[in-house]
Amino acid sequence: MRVLVLNGPNLNLLGTREPGVYGTLTLADLEQRCVQEGQALGLQVECYQSNHEGALIDQIHTWGRLHREGTALGVVFNPGAYTHTSIALHDAIKGVEPLPVIEVHLSNVHAREAFRHHSWIAPVAAGSIVGFGVDGYGLALQALARRAAGLRTKP
Ligand code: DQA
Repeated sequence: MRVLVLNGPNLNLLGTREPGVYGTLTLADLEQRCVQEGQALGLQVECYQSNHEGALIDQIHTWGRLHREGTALGVVFNPGAYTHTSIALHDAIKGVEPLPVIEVHLSNVHAREAFRHHSWIAPVAAGSIVGFGVDGYGLALQALARRAAGLRTKP
């Protein structure tokens, strides 16, 4: 089954962007790890990054259709700063329910500035994983694989 790892604005700068906050792995490193961890879980991971809100919305719509058609499991999504601003991304995810979207943040947004404490994505996400760096993506892939295998513990 296909899974999308979707990264939003400024995440193309990983490796050199605020390494004390986001670490030193590049986006290419992160994506490679996701593909490998996906393989170990039996998932076909595809990756996409954009700095543009509309391009991210288009991806959500596409993967919503693939999920409806039965070929995609879900999306692991780090929306970057759009997390805190984008009602359009909130609406896009709501508009393609029941596509499971797992929200991931490298940093612990709750331990940072107050403007990072609110997420427009969290209420429409299947769940959120924050503060575990690149490991958070692997945890999200595991969660999607477990859902698919019917192993999900109901909240
Ligand atoms: C981030 C957290 C956001 O607040 C920030 O704007 C980012 C990265 C994270 O992964 O920790 O761009 O999503």
